[in-house]
Amino acid sequence: MDQSLCMNGGEGRASYAQNSFVQKQVMSRAMPALQEALRELYLDSFPECLKLADLGCSSGPNALLFLREMIASIDAIRKKLNKTEPTFQIFLNDLFDNDFNNLIRSIPSFYEELRREKGGDFGPCFIAAMPGNFYGRLFPDHSLHFIHSSYSVHWRSQVPANLVSEFGSPLNKGHIYLARITPKSVYEAYLDLFNRDMTVFLKSRSEELVLGGRMMFTMIGRDASVNLSQDQVSNIWELLGMTISDMVQEGIIEEEKLDDCNMPFYLPTPEEVRYVIQKEGSFDITRFETFKVTWDAEMGDGDLQMRGKYAAATLRAVSESILTTHFGEEVMDGLFERFASKVSQYMKLHKGEYFNILVSVKNRWISTLMQSS
Ligand SMILES: C[S@@+](CC[C@H](N)C(=O)[O-])C[C@H]1O[C@@H](n2cnc3c(N)ncnc32)[C@H](O)[C@@H]1O
Repeated sequence: MDQSLCMNGGEGRASYAQNSFVQKQVMSRAMPALQEALRELYLDSFPECLKLADLGCSSGPNALLFLREMIASIDAIRKKLNKTEPTFQIFLNDLFDNDFNNLIRSIPSFYEELRREKGGDFGPCFIAAMPGNFYGRLFPDHSLHFIHSSYSVHWRSQVPANLVSEFGSPLNKGHIYLARITPKSVYEAYLDLFNRDMTVFLKSRSEELVLGGRMMFTMIGRDASVNLSQDQVSNIWELLGMTISDMVQEGIIEEEKLDDCNMPFYLPTPEEVRYVIQKEGSFDITRFETFKVTWDAEMGDGDLQMRGKYAAATLRAVSESILTTHFGEEVMDGLFERFASKVSQYMKLHKGEYFNILVSVKNRWISTLMQSS
């Protein structure tokens, strides 16, 4: 996983930096919750040096958007409370293959903007990269006040191991992720991996956060309460799988390659997310909500062809590294052209939307301490 999962780097046409409007819209929708979590954190304690981390920051402008909002929120709160500005220490985390160079290069202009916006009136801000896998420890014990993660924890640490039958045949034949007709055993394998990954994630974060520290994350989920009609898909990846299947029929992609390809993410229901947080037990949930964002983040301005192109470009920026490993670079342009037109056709009939889950939590230790004192 560390080697094949990475968003498209750089600033080019297919880069994540140029194709992360959906994620930007998700982050904007999550801003009120972010401000609330930071306000509560700051009201609980007034650290002179606020230590924060953004997990799965990737390499586009969204990482800096989060930083800007976070600094502005703290600044507004501390002014109201008549406190001096804190020092910020911020860690940007992603996997080792992430294009950190591109991100780090944008930091000087970010500092410059901050200085312009705020004059000299903000505390020193130290930004550092922290490469590593968030399904494990990244920071020393009790060293962070706040952890943020946007659109990253639906990625799994690996593909579920048991996706072949006892006779060695692929269980998720013809699909790259859970589709409407996927066998139950495939769904269970993904859910099991989700529970194991998230347990490690939550435990690691609770050890890294100070007492009463906060964490907020958003992820893509699925709304299990919706009854799909015959011609609807359960998620956009099912449409991508259908496009690959068309290319198998055309003789462009080998069938075995499609059967062997399963994407390393899982889109949980809100109930599954609540369950794993409660079962792991380190955190109290302080806010839990769901909201939808269209597959093109409204960038297509109603033009169906453009909408398909935007939606396809978003998926290409996040999945090309993995799909290239399976199917080869030479089929990528053809695949995503076909996919854009499939998405347009689908959006003619149905609303294509990501269903998102937002969770704010507080490290439980403080509540335990308060109860016992
Ligand atoms: C879709 S991007 C989101 C980027 C950014 N937060 C945003 O909202 O635009 C997901 C990021 O999560 C990172 N990621 C996935 N699994 C990870 C893991 N186990 N450890 C660290 N980063 C991970 C990916 O490399 C990718 O950069």
